[in-house]
Amino acid sequence: MGSTMKLDIHNRLSFKPEDFIGECVAVLGRRGGGKTNTAARLFEALHSHMPATIIDIDGDYWGLRQQLPNIILVGMLPRADLMLDIEKAPALANYSLDKGVSVILDFDGYDNDGVRDEAWVADYLYTYSLALWRAMSKKRTPYMMMVEEAHEFVPQTGGHAALKKLLRKMALRGRKRGLSMLFTSQRFANVSKDVLSQAGIMFLHHATIPNDQEVYAGLLGRKIGEVQKLMAGMANGNGQNFGLIVFDQKKLVTTQMRLRETYHSGFTPGFNTSAVDSLPINLVSHDWLAGLDGELGKALVWHSFDELIKENDKIFADNKRLRELLGVQSEAGAHLKIVPTAPDLAAIQMADLEDELRAALQNSPRYHSKILAALVKFSGRMSTGLLAEKAGLSVSTIRKNPPVRNLIKPGWINRFGDPGSRSYGFNWAKLTGEYDLLDSDAMRNTIIRVSA
Ligand SMILES: Nc1ncnc2c1ncn2[C@@H]1O[C@H](COP(=O)(O)OP(=O)(O)O)[C@@H](O)[C@H]1O
Ligand SMILES: [Mg+2]
Repeated sequence: MGSTMKLDIHNRLSFKPEDFIGECVAVLGRRGGGKTNTAARLFEALHSHMPATIIDIDGDYWGLRQQLPNIILVGMLPRADLMLDIEKAPALANYSLDKGVSVILDFDGYDNDGVRDEAWVADYLYTYSLALWRAMSKKRTPYMMMVEEAHEFVPQTGGHAALKKLLRKMALRGRKRGLSMLFTSQRFANVSKDVLSQAGIMFLHHATIPNDQEVYAGLLGRKIGEVQKLMAGMANGNGQNFGLIVFDQKKLVTTQMRLRETYHSGFTPGFNTSAVDSLPINLVSHDWLAGLDGELGKALVWHSFDELIKENDKIFADNKRLRELLGVQSEAGAHLKIVPTAPDLAAIQMADLEDELRAALQNSPRYHSKILAALVKFSGRMSTGLLAEKAGLSVSTIRKNPPVRNLIKPGWINRFGDPGSRSYGFNWAKLTGEYDLLDSDAMRNTIIRVSA
C-alpha cells in the first residue's frame, strides 16, 4: 500500500501505513513530552491511506487543515467548518467513513457558554463513536480513531460508562473491522488496562514519575532500571527530552520524532514564536466543503456557513472568496429543506443489540437459541428441569452441553448452583448498562424474535 513513513529524525522507524491497519496504538508520556506532535505526525503520514477522526480536547489539531486536504474541522470556535452538534454527530460519522474524509472533533471552548459540560462532551463522543462503530460493521475500510487524553474517556475506574465501554470494545474488537485506535495520555497509569494491553504499537515518550516508568516496564516487559536507562539516553543535552521508545512487539527502537509539518496550535510558547492569530485559515477547504455532493454534504455545509455568518465576521470580513461562497449558500438556503433529524438513539441501540445477539448465536447450535428465548420470557431463575420443559429440550441436552462459551461466559445468561442442582436466569444486568435507552419489554421482544 505505501512506502516507509518518514516519522523520526534518525530514520530508525520503518513503519508502512498498512502496519497501522486495525492496530491499537498507545502514545504515552509526560505533559509536554511530544505526544501530540507524535500523533499529529502519524496523522500527516497516514491520512491519505487511512482517514481518521481525531478527538481533540484542547484544540491542538486544527492546524492540520492548513496543508492537508479533506479534513472537516468540527468545533465550537469560529475556526470550525461545522458546529459540534450532537444531533448531527451520527450523520457526520457516517459521512466521514463513507467519503473517506477525516474529522477533527475540536472541543476547545466547548464550555464557553457555561451550558455544556464534560458529560455533554462524553455524550457527543458516545453518539458519534457508536454511529462510526455501527457503520464500520457494514463497511470495512481502514479508518483510525485518535483519542487524546484517553484517561478522560477510558479510565481504569469511573468515567462515562457507556462511552468507556464502547471505546474499549472498539479497541478490543476493532481489528476485524479495519479500525485502528490511537490513544494518547499523560496519565496513562489511569488508563484502562484492557485498552493499554491491546496496544500493538507503542510510542513511549519521556516519563519522570516512577509509577509511570513502572507502567512502561510492564508494557515493554523490561525491568524499570532498563527503562530509566533508555530514557536517560534520549535527552538532547538542553535539558529537554523529546526522545521516545517505540515498540511494536517485534523490536524496540529509541529515537526522536520529526516535528509535524502542519501548524502546531498547541505548541509550548517560547520567546521567538510568531503570533498564533496570524495563521491564515485554509479557505481551500471551505471551497471544497461547499462543493460536496449530496444532501448531507449540503446540509452540513449550510449549518457551517450559517454559523460562520454569525460568528466569523471578523476573521473572514475581508475575504472576497468566502463572501462569494456565503452568497451562494444564502441563496441556496431557500431550497435547503434538509434538516438533519435527530438520530433515534434507541433505534441505534436496538440494532446494536440485534447485532451483538446475532453474533453470539451465529455459531451456536439451535438449542442455545431455545434456551435463551425460554429464559428471557421468564423472570427469575429456572431449574434445569423447568428450563428443559419451557425450551422444549431434554434435560440431558442442557446438562451435557450447557451453552457456556456462547451465552454464559459473555454474560447473556447466569448459571447458579452446583453441577447436581443447576439453575439458570437471563442476565438483565448485562443489557441495562449498555442499552440504557431500551425498555425491558422491547429488549425481550427483540431477543425472542432474533432467537426464533
Ligand atoms: N520531536 C520533537 N522535537 C522537537 N520538539 C518537539 C518534539 N515533540 C514535541 N516538541 C515540542 O514540545 C512541545 C510540546 O509538545 P506536545 O506534542 O504538545 O507535547 P504533549 O502532547 O506530550 O503535551 C511543543 O512545543 C513541540 O513543538
Ligand atoms: Mg498533548
